[in-house]
Amino acid sequence: MSQTVKGVVALSKGAPVEVVDIVIPDPGPYEVVVNIQACGVCHTDLHYRQGAIVDEFPFLLGHEAAGIVESIGNQVSQVKPGDYVVLNWRAVCGTCRACAKGQPWYCFNTHNAEQKMTLTDGTALSAALGIGAFSDKTLVHEGQCTKVDPQASPVSACLLGCGVMAGFGAAVNTAGVKRGDSVAVIGCGGVGNAAIAGAKIAGATKIIAVDIDAKKLDWAKKFGATHFINSSNQDPVETIRELTAGFGADVVIDAVGSPQTYKQAFYARDLAGVVVLVGVPNPDYKIELPLIDIFGRGGALKSSWYGDCLPARDFPMLVDLYNQGRFNLGDFVSEVIGINDVEAAFEKMEKGQVLRSVVQL
Ligand SMILES: NC(=O)c1ccc[n+]([C@@H]2O[C@H](COP(=O)([O-])OP(=O)(O)OC[C@H]3O[C@@H](n4cnc5c(N)ncnc54)[C@H](O)[C@@H]3O)[C@@H](O)[C@H]2O)c1
Ligand SMILES: [Zn+2]
Ligand SMILES: [Zn+2]
Repeated sequence: MSQTVKGVVALSKGAPVEVVDIVIPDPGPYEVVVNIQACGVCHTDLHYRQGAIVDEFPFLLGHEAAGIVESIGNQVSQVKPGDYVVLNWRAVCGTCRACAKGQPWYCFNTHNAEQKMTLTDGTALSAALGIGAFSDKTLVHEGQCTKVDPQASPVSACLLGCGVMAGFGAAVNTAGVKRGDSVAVIGCGGVGNAAIAGAKIAGATKIIAVDIDAKKLDWAKKFGATHFINSSNQDPVETIRELTAGFGADVVIDAVGSPQTYKQAFYARDLAGVVVLVGVPNPDYKIELPLIDIFGRGGALKSSWYGDCLPARDFPMLVDLYNQGRFNLGDFVSEVIGINDVEAAFEKMEKGQVLRSVVQL
C-alpha cells in the first residue's frame, strides 16, 4: 500500500516551492521508506528550483536528512525498521571502474531507489540528489541509509548528509590538509565553514576565511578561522599572500563556485599548492586562465563532489566527534523551521541571514 504524505515540491523553473501531497510507494526489493525527522536547506536545493542543475521538473527537494527506517524491501540487509540513519547521496555500487580501482568515493554508478515517488496524479517526481526529504517520508536505496549513534540529535546530524560533509571532506579528503598547513576558504556559508572546521581538525595552523559579508566572517571564527578577509573591500589574493609571507596558501578552497572566486583561489595558493572547487558553478560559467600559469604554478586543481566522502566511513566518525564535543554541528543550525517555511529559508539564504535552516518534520 502506497502512502500519501506532504512534501516540498518545485513544480516549474524558478517558481516558489509548494507543499503538496506526494505518493510514496511501498519499498521494492532493495528500497527503504524512511520517516524523516529533520532536513537541512542546502544551496543546491535552490539551484534545483532555479533549474540550474537539470531540467527534470517537478523536483521533490531536500537532501540533507536524518530519520528512522520505517519499512524495508525483501532483499534489504543493511538496515532494519527502527534504525536511526543519516541519508546519503553516495550509495556506492562496488563494481564500476572507480570502485574496482579502489576509489569508491568516485563511484560512477551510485544507487538510488528504482521506483519513483509521484504527485497524486501519477506525475513522477525527480528527487533532489536521489533523496527528496523535505517530506514526512521518503523512498531511498538501502545503501543511502547510514546508521549513526542515535545520541546525535537529528537537527544536527542531518547536516552531515550534504553540505557539512562536502565542506569538511573538501578540506580533509580532497585537499588532504595536513598539520601546519595554511588554508584559505572563499565563501563561508555552511559548506565553507565546514571546510574551516575540517582544516582545524586536520591541524592547519593558519585558516583564512574570505567572504563578502562581514557577518559570515564573524560566524567563521566559531569554526576555527584565524584570519578574516572581507573581499567586498579587500583584494583577497593580495591579502592571502600577505598573510602567508608573500607566497599564498597551501590549500585554497572555493566554496562559492564562480569564475571570479575560482580565479582568486587559483592565484591565492602557493606554488605547488592545491585548489579545491566545492561550490557548484552555474552551467553557463566560463573561465579563462593563461595556460602557462596553470603549468608554471604546478600543484593540483581538484573538484570535490560531496567532499570525496564515503558515508559509511565518514558519517559515524563525524557523529562521534560531535558527541565528544570536538566538532560542533549545532553551530551550523541558524534556525529550526516547519515544512511550510522552505521558500522563506531560500530567501534568508540568499540574503545571507542564515548558515543553515533545518526543517523539522
Ligand atoms: N560539491 C558538493 O558536493 C556540494 C555540496 C553541497 C553544496 N555545494 C555547493 O557549495 C556552495 C555553497 O553552499 P552553501 O550551502 O554553503 O551556500 P551559502 O549560500 O550558505 O554560502 C555561500 C557563501 O558564499 C558567500 N559568497 C558569495 N559570493 C561570494 C564572493 N564572490 N566572494 C566571497 N564569498 C562569496 C556568501 O556570502 C555566503 O556566505 C553552493 O554552490 C552549493 O551548491 C556543493
Ligand atoms: Zn561504483
Ligand atoms: Zn546539498
